[in-house]
Amino acid sequence: MKVVAFNGSPNKEGNTWNALKMVTTELEAAGIETEIVQVGNKAIRGCIACYQCVKNKNEQCALADEINEWVQKMKQADGIIIGSPVHYSAIGGTMKSFLDRAFFVTGVNDSMLRHKVGAAVVAVRRSGGLPTFNQLNNFLNYAEMLIPTSNYWNVIHGRTPGEVVQDLEGVQIMRVLGKNMAWLMKLVEHGKGTIPPPEREPKTMFSFIH
Ligand SMILES: Cc1cc2nc3c(=O)[nH]c(=O)nc-3n(C[C@H](O)[C@H](O)[C@H](O)COP(=O)(O)O)c2cc1C
Repeated sequence: MKVVAFNGSPNKEGNTWNALKMVTTELEAAGIETEIVQVGNKAIRGCIACYQCVKNKNEQCALADEINEWVQKMKQADGIIIGSPVHYSAIGGTMKSFLDRAFFVTGVNDSMLRHKVGAAVVAVRRSGGLPTFNQLNNFLNYAEMLIPTSNYWNVIHGRTPGEVVQDLEGVQIMRVLGKNMAWLMKLVEHGKGTIPPPEREPKTMFSFIH
């Protein structure tokens, strides 16, 4: 089994990376392969609402950049982690651009993330951790992913790169998340062929426009 983690920070080995590393260390210890992909330092523009992904259904975003390769990584993985620093009480801009586009493409292509395991982590200096965590979880929920929990919300505190290792409660939150994620992934794997998943319902769209 494999987990791909996306680092939404412009800092290569900053606090978000450290948080991801704490989770992936537990996954590795449980025998799950991991990879961390850095998103936040790339030039990723936002969705241009061209709807080509809806029309073509070819697993591609029309803005051909790294995102198409990352979508394939998501497709091949059994689990994903999305991590972001807090920027103005929200997801970092580059990460938000990536998530909007990648989740649109995966969603319209047979909901390719449905029933994979997905978790979110956040690094923050002081305030804005929870709104950012909620924003990240919106993507996982929309995609019908299976979300493991920890013993608190998955937010870790620090300012300068690496400072989060001093947040001992945050470190525990990430460690517990990693253990719970590994366990959930093994349960899902074990259930394959034994417990059938619920049938997929065709999406009902009701936009209050008649
Ligand atoms: C543009 C920008 C906006 C930020 N906004 C906030 C904020 O709203 N609240 C906060 O507590 N920290 C804020 N920070 C600090 C970062 O969230 C914090 O340093 C975090 O640990 C950085 O993670 P990283 O090392 O993975 O980039 C901001 C940092 C930047 C660069």
